[in-house]
Amino acid sequence: MKNNLSSYEEGNIKHPKKKFEKVVRVPPEGYESSNDFFEDVFMDKDMIWMGQNTNHLHGDIIADAMASCAKAKEYCKYPPPEGFSELKQLILDDLGFKNSDVLLTAGATESLYLCMQALLGPQDNVVMSDPGYLIIGNFANRFAGEVRYVPVYNEECGYKLTPELLRENMDENTKMVVLIDPLNPLGSGYTEEEIKEFAEIAIENDIYLLDDVTYKDFARNHYLAADYAPEQTLTIYSFSKIFGMAGVRIGAVVSTSDIIDVLKNAVVNDLGVNIIAQYGAIAGLKSKSEWEDKIKSITFNNQKLIKEVVDEIDGVFLPVYPSEANMMAIDLSGAGISPKDMSNYLLKRKIFTREGEYTSNLFGDNYLRISYSIPEEQIKVFCEEFPKAVEALRK
Ligand SMILES: Cc1ncc(COP(=O)(O)O)c(C=O)c1O
Repeated sequence: MKNNLSSYEEGNIKHPKKKFEKVVRVPPEGYESSNDFFEDVFMDKDMIWMGQNTNHLHGDIIADAMASCAKAKEYCKYPPPEGFSELKQLILDDLGFKNSDVLLTAGATESLYLCMQALLGPQDNVVMSDPGYLIIGNFANRFAGEVRYVPVYNEECGYKLTPELLRENMDENTKMVVLIDPLNPLGSGYTEEEIKEFAEIAIENDIYLLDDVTYKDFARNHYLAADYAPEQTLTIYSFSKIFGMAGVRIGAVVSTSDIIDVLKNAVVNDLGVNIIAQYGAIAGLKSKSEWEDKIKSITFNNQKLIKEVVDEIDGVFLPVYPSEANMMAIDLSGAGISPKDMSNYLLKRKIFTREGEYTSNLFGDNYLRISYSIPEEQIKVFCEEFPKAVEALRK
C-alpha cells in the first residue's frame, strides 16, 4: 500500500482533508457509527466476549491492586513521567532482558505508533503479513513510503511470514519487518530456528525487527527476537491479554537505550501512563507465577473443545491448530458462509466474534476470528450455537 500524504495539502481551514488513510467501517444497520454499535455490545452484560482476544479468567489480585490505588486517591497526582521504575524492572525480568530500556505507553498500541513515527520516513518500506494486526500497517503507512503486505493465508508457509518470504519481499529500502508472534488472528507461532533466521536477516541488512509479543504467554513455547538481534529489535509488550487489563490501556516497548531515547523524544503522553493501570501491572507481574499456568491451561482446553465441534462440521476448518494464542480463525469458505453473516448471527445469540476483515484485507472473506480465554461454560454455549449457525447460513 503506497502512502499518499499530498492530498491533505489541498484542504482548507473549514474543510480540512484527512491527512492519513484509515479504514472506516460501515456501521451495522440501525447504527450511525461503528462506535455506537460497539457501545451497545459493550453495555450488554450477557454478551459472551470472543471478539477481542481479551482475557476474562482472572481472580482479584490485579483488580484489588487497582482498587486500592483508586481508594487511596493516588490518581490525584501525576505519575513519574517515564513510569515507576519497579514496573519497568518487572517487565525486563519477565522478558529476561539485562541491558535493555523500557518505555511505558497507553497500551502496546501507543508503542507501535511511536516506533513508526520515530523510526520511519517516506523513503522506507515495511514488510508485514496479511492476515495480521492491521493497525500496525496503518500506523506504518502514515510515516513510511510503502507497507508491503505479504499474503500468508496458506499451508505452504504455515500461515505465517517466513524468513524466505521476508527475503523475497524486501529490498534496499526496507527499514522494518513486523513479526507478530503468536500471530493475531491465526495463532501461528515461530520456532527458535525461525526467530534466529529473522534476527540474522535484520542484522545483515541493518533493519528493525519489530517483535510484537502481545500474546507470548499463551504459547506453549516462545522465543524472543531480542535474544538474537538485541540492537535491531523493538519488543512490543502488552498488559491487555494474559494480564486481562485491556480496558486500562497499558503496555510498553523495550529496546536498546539508544532506540528508546529516540522513541521518548516522540512521546505524546508526556505526563505519564495511567497510574491505576501501573499499580495493576505491578501486581500482575509480581503474582504471575500464581495464575499463569491456570489461565493458560483453561485457554488451551477451550480451544480443544472448539476444535472437536469444528471437526464435525462439513466445509469449515481451523487453518492453524493448535493455536499458540488465545484466539484462532475458523475458515468458513467451504460452507459458502460470509464471516459477516456469521458474526451477526452469533451476535443475536449474544456471542461477540470478529469477521476476518478486521485482520485481513486479502483473506477477510474466508474466516471468523474467535478468542477463548473465557470461562468454559461460555465456550459450551459457543459450541452449541456454532453448528446451528453453520447449518442456518450454509449456501
Ligand atoms: C498483535 C497485537 N498487538 C497489539 C495489540 C494492542 O494491544 P494493547 O491493548 O496493549 O494496545 C493487539 C490487540 O489486539 C494485538 O493483537
